[in-house]
Amino acid sequence: MRILRTIAEVRGAVVAARDRGESVGLVPTMGAFHEGHLSLMRRAREGNDLVVVSLFVNPTQFGANEDLSTYPRDEARDAALAKAAGVDILFAPDAAEIYPDGFATSIHVAGITDVLDGESRGPHHFDGVATVVTKLFGIVRPDVAYFGQKDAQQVLVVRRVVRDLDLDVRIEACPIVREADGLAMSSRNVYLDDAARVQATALNRALDAAAALHLAGERDGVRIVDAARSMLADAGITPEYLELRDANTLQPVPTVEGDALLAVAAHIGAARLIDNHVLHAT
Ligand code: PAJ
Repeated sequence: MRILRTIAEVRGAVVAARDRGESVGLVPTMGAFHEGHLSLMRRAREGNDLVVVSLFVNPTQFGANEDLSTYPRDEARDAALAKAAGVDILFAPDAAEIYPDGFATSIHVAGITDVLDGESRGPHHFDGVATVVTKLFGIVRPDVAYFGQKDAQQVLVVRRVVRDLDLDVRIEACPIVREADGLAMSSRNVYLDDAARVQATALNRALDAAAALHLAGERDGVRIVDAARSMLADAGITPEYLELRDANTLQPVPTVEGDALLAVAAHIGAARLIDNHVLHAT
């Protein structure tokens, strides 16, 4: 596995692979790898000749009061894990390589970024994501890019950018990887102390309870959300948001008909965590 720092080096490696007729897969990440990240890398390894993973803690998607400065960083550990997952190139640029002096462009996806994490974290968040992901697509020009369903709204935003800007890349969404007790894996789980770690398991339990109600035939959005809300309350959690929305448009769904996304965000201990379940139409 090669660790590359510059756009020119990545371009050179990709051009050489293309000349050999190879396919290229990209996994964009911010590092602090866990099984969620590794599952995307393995999927990319199965489907492509050249696997590129980007490791860049993207400053523009963090708010002023968020955890940019404390975000976990351990490049040596990440490089060892990526290598073991079969990654060919780890692209780990510094901020000036991605945002040189004079950088002035931002990609804003309207509508679907007004709700959930876009509303909670503010518009800068998905602008930052859309812009850096579009840059990564321009640098690597992958056939396929892999994203986790853990960040369901991010997948929708990236798909919207790809469609709207006619980017020649296929987006593959991969399932949420969870700890044995159901907690969705996240780089931010390291912020949890023992008590918060236990409390955090209520997020998935609450989503599960709501999903079970839906599976049993309940279609009323309020009753489904209330089932999750009361389980969160039992665990002492007041969510930042807990909402049921159309899984594709993110419009509210008073009555569930098609696929619906039940999404939650909550501050638990020192971490802000998100999780979601898709309630599939039967
Ligand atoms: P990061 O949080 O590092 O996540 C990188 C990728 O791993 C994302 O596609 C995310 O959805 C996926 N992922 C995280 N936890 C997962 C889990 N438990 N199961 C499955 N997939 C999981 O998301 C970002 O970075 C950034 O916003 C980025 C896209 C790199 C742009 O800066």
